[in-house]
Amino acid sequence: MPTPPTVALIVGSLRKDSVNRKIARALAELTPGLKFEFVEIGDLVHFDQDLEAEPPAPWVRFREQIAAADAVVLVTPEYNRGLPSVLKNAVDVGSRPYGKAVWTGKPVGVITAAFGAAGGVAANHQLRQSLTILGAPTMPAPEAAIGNALALFDPEGRLINDGTRGFLTAWGAAFTAWITRVGVRA
Ligand code: FNR
Repeated sequence: MPTPPTVALIVGSLRKDSVNRKIARALAELTPGLKFEFVEIGDLVHFDQDLEAEPPAPWVRFREQIAAADAVVLVTPEYNRGLPSVLKNAVDVGSRPYGKAVWTGKPVGVITAAFGAAGGVAANHQLRQSLTILGAPTMPAPEAAIGNALALFDPEGRLINDGTRGFLTAWGAAFTAWITRVGVRA
């Protein structure tokens, strides 16, 4: 059996009870053809180009983890109709040194989830804007902007909404096909 493609899973919320982290976990469970690994971003020092002379250890660790993965999935809330700063910082850290962005050529998937009905669609598209300039082939559809996300999980963090389970299963299958289509892995 061929080894499954590896996928770095990044969550744009740092809080323990994050609904986006729960969705990321559910996606991993529902996508058996891919091997997901969480890559943490909370310890990344704010991007400062002056630090490139001697990059902070978390930057080096983060860049190596993304470079080693076959693909990346970003699961994030929307903050004030935009991207949480911690996630934008991670995108920027991964974009340098110039010409060595870890995102370039990497198949990427974007999922946003929010308590509101719109599902963080503004952050979803803002993130795609950065990924486009970085040359990351980002899966265009199905778009995943999951609204009313608070009601999807029980107090133990289990996904209890069958519609969302079906959607995440289909999204995971589409992303598996996207990795093959982009050609990183046969
Ligand atoms: C939010 N929230 C929010 N929701 C939304 O749909 N659009 C928005 O612009 C914002 N803005 C916003 C700003 C800040 C600072 C916070 C803390 C929250 C609500 C958001 O959807 C909700 O808190 C989610 O639960 C955040 O995701 P996690 O942390 O549960 O993954």
